[in-house]
Amino acid sequence: MQSNQKELLIQKHVDFIVNYGKTHDQYEYEMSDYLRMSGLYWSVTFLDLVKSLDKLNKSEIVDYLKRNQHENGGFSPCDGHDPHLLYSLSAVQIAITYNVLNEINSEKLIEYISNLQQEDGSFSGDCWGEIDTRFSFCAVAALSLLNALDRINIEKAVTFVLSCMNFDGGFGCLPGTESHAGQIYCCVGFLSILNRLHMINVDLLGWWLAERQLPSGGLNGRPEKLQDVCYSWWVISSLKIIGKLEWINIEKLREYIISCQDDETGGFSDRPGNMPDPFHTLFAFAGLSLIKAFPDALKEVNPVFCMPQYVIDRVKVKPQLL
Ligand code: FPP
Ligand code: ZN
Repeated sequence: MQSNQKELLIQKHVDFIVNYGKTHDQYEYEMSDYLRMSGLYWSVTFLDLVKSLDKLNKSEIVDYLKRNQHENGGFSPCDGHDPHLLYSLSAVQIAITYNVLNEINSEKLIEYISNLQQEDGSFSGDCWGEIDTRFSFCAVAALSLLNALDRINIEKAVTFVLSCMNFDGGFGCLPGTESHAGQIYCCVGFLSILNRLHMINVDLLGWWLAERQLPSGGLNGRPEKLQDVCYSWWVISSLKIIGKLEWINIEKLREYIISCQDDETGGFSDRPGNMPDPFHTLFAFAGLSLIKAFPDALKEVNPVFCMPQYVIDRVKVKPQLL
């Protein structure tokens, strides 16, 4: 639709993302080196969704991946940091998108991930032992992309995630912790990959998720919190997976997401007028793709992996959708 496409300044956002990584002395860039591998995943995925992946240097990125794989198989965010499940998933997502899985040591990575599973089925994020349902998602998402789900105890992994389900239908990071849309995305995505969506009370959870939409059209991550464009993704991807996307006002959400674009610098921020960054830029576009707001300009996104659907089709992974 021509009028919609004029509103969305895609070229400015492409320039914003491509230049973000080049200005190494930029304060925000230096401050975020501990999540650089995920930053690359956000940038690569955004650029692929807007059909501009050729704007990044693929061989530099492949070298970066290789440099950050450690002896134990895990990936660190950047030089000088320790490996972690979060960055290992980002690395797999980048490798799969570029179709260069053969360039990394997949067998060592599979070993690294499966060794992080605990006796109760949960996953530790790294060797220091923090447990969180985010890490359960990272482990099964990465292993499914690597076609190696048989290397963990799936039943125990499911039992642990279900023990984090709350009376309101949502999920927290550990048993007994409050429901949070980011954790819900992780747990719903986890159950989708493992074909266990029937364990969810979809009416209860769908209601909790739909309640996240505020009068501005934006979504928050928990009751009483402010709207944030990244929650467009955490909430609506969860709604899409459980088949309840129509329970929110899609048109108002589209307007809210577009109101978060920075017309001058390019990029999206969490709320209108704030500083834009690659994280919110990816999730703004992934949200727009999921609600099919600009079908001619944006590729289809997969709600579970937050990657282009054609990439997920190429590796023949089929997460369950209701
Ligand atoms: C909110 O974080 C978001 C989450 C807790 C979900 C994070 C999801 C992952 C790490 C899985 C990998 C993601 C993808 C897309 C493949 P926050 O710290 O901003 O929460 P706050 O808003 O409460 O501060
Ligand atoms: Zn946010």
